Amino acid sequence: MGICIDPLVISCFQKTGYYICQMRKWLVLSVLFFAVLLSVSFTGNDNPAAGLRKIYSRSPDKWPAPFVDAGVAWKELGVLPGSPLQSHLDSLQHLIELGKVLFFDPRLSSSGKISCATCHQPELSWTDGKERSVGHAGAVNKRNSPTIQNSWFYKKLFWDGRARDLEDQAFAPINSESEMHGDMRELPRNLRKIKGYPALFDSAFGDPGIDPDRIATAIATFERTITSPRTKFDEFLSGKRNALNNAELRGLHLFRTKAGCINCHNGPLFTDNQFHNSGFHLNDNPENDKGLYNVTHKEEDTGNFKTPSLRDVMKTGPWMHNGMMTHMADIIIHYNKLSPRPGKKESVMLYLSNREITDLISFLHAISVQPPEFKKPVLPE
Ligand code: HEC
Ligand code: HEC
Repeated sequence: MGICIDPLVISCFQKTGYYICQMRKWLVLSVLFFAVLLSVSFTGNDNPAAGLRKIYSRSPDKWPAPFVDAGVAWKELGVLPGSPLQSHLDSLQHLIELGKVLFFDPRLSSSGKISCATCHQPELSWTDGKERSVGHAGAVNKRNSPTIQNSWFYKKLFWDGRARDLEDQAFAPINSESEMHGDMRELPRNLRKIKGYPALFDSAFGDPGIDPDRIATAIATFERTITSPRTKFDEFLSGKRNALNNAELRGLHLFRTKAGCINCHNGPLFTDNQFHNSGFHLNDNPENDKGLYNVTHKEEDTGNFKTPSLRDVMKTGPWMHNGMMTHMADIIIHYNKLSPRPGKKESVMLYLSNREITDLISFLHAISVQPPEFKKPVLPE
């Protein structure tokens, strides 16, 4: 009789001439089982990723066709573009400097406490990290503060597209009761009283005159220089084949194919510059934000919001126009059940597995970076 380690397992028996302890048999079998499982999961994981790496190491025009619905105007993902002012930085230096000072100066608000940078902080990727912004005297804005990175790219600004450009946009927060509670018409007079400002306007515009349009021009010009930093994805596109790990690579592929995100989040900045209803607008809320409808008054625009860029998205939460989403996994789970498609009323199901959900999130990490240090300006006395 063989000796069993566990006294409870007493049924050791004889076979082909020698003793096998049942316990040992099970041990050997389970080790074998796990070895097989491991090798299957390796072939399941890594070989296709190696295939994906090969395919995606080619230039984007040779990537597999994305899953885009017929009729959708889309652009391939791509390397981060530079600021549109890149080649004019020297000639615009003083104007940009003035815009930066104005952006960080709380004296543009009626309380003297709130600057643009209160809600668009460089260390939070130019957002405020809040569900919805808090402005003048603690007033809670009805919307979440978006990043101003790459905002030069949008054809229309704000979640509902009510501003046509950055100059037009700059008036809004200054005049808004719930933001800076200031008055753009009064502002030039107040700035003239601050000794350093006329000189700054002089360097920027060639004479010390201060008026609302000049204030808006300077702020908008500064904003056009704010781009998001280069990411691992950009390194990958520029030829560094190992810049993305396997999970990130699978996420990229899913983003373009099975998950269909590229239908709307496309081009180098991951936005189609359009407005859609992705179902994050709280249908049952009586104070429901109607988004684009507020601007166009067209029924079909109800609940449509601007497709935000996804660059640095892992750093810009909470997410959505109302800041209602605080976990990225919940966003993907929502899309998994109810994924909108441009120009279609019906949403589709994606059937993403849990691993595919985490792969997508890994890819979103690969297009996000820790904000680099930003040197804040010295404000004039
Ligand atoms: C109290 C917080 C707060 C302050 C102060 C503030 N903003 Fe904003 N900003 C927001 C919110 C919230 C939105 C989104 C509002 C909406 O879409 O209706 C926004 C939107 C924007 C956008 C549009 C971005 C896009 O993707 O459409 C720009 C650009 C911007 N702000 C620049 C500025 C500038 C310039 C100032 C200073 C003059 C400023 N903000 C002051 C909270 C603030
Ligand atoms: C039909 C177009 C469309 C599709 C498809 C789509 N999105 Fe969006 N996405 C939007 C719009 C529009 C918003 C803003 C919605 C809002 O604020 O209510 C948004 C918001 C987001 C946000 C929050 C961004 C922020 O700054 O608040 C994330 C993250 C996101 N989408 C990821 C994805 C992923 C991942 C996929 C694929 C699974 C996807 N989206 C598919 C249009 C789309």
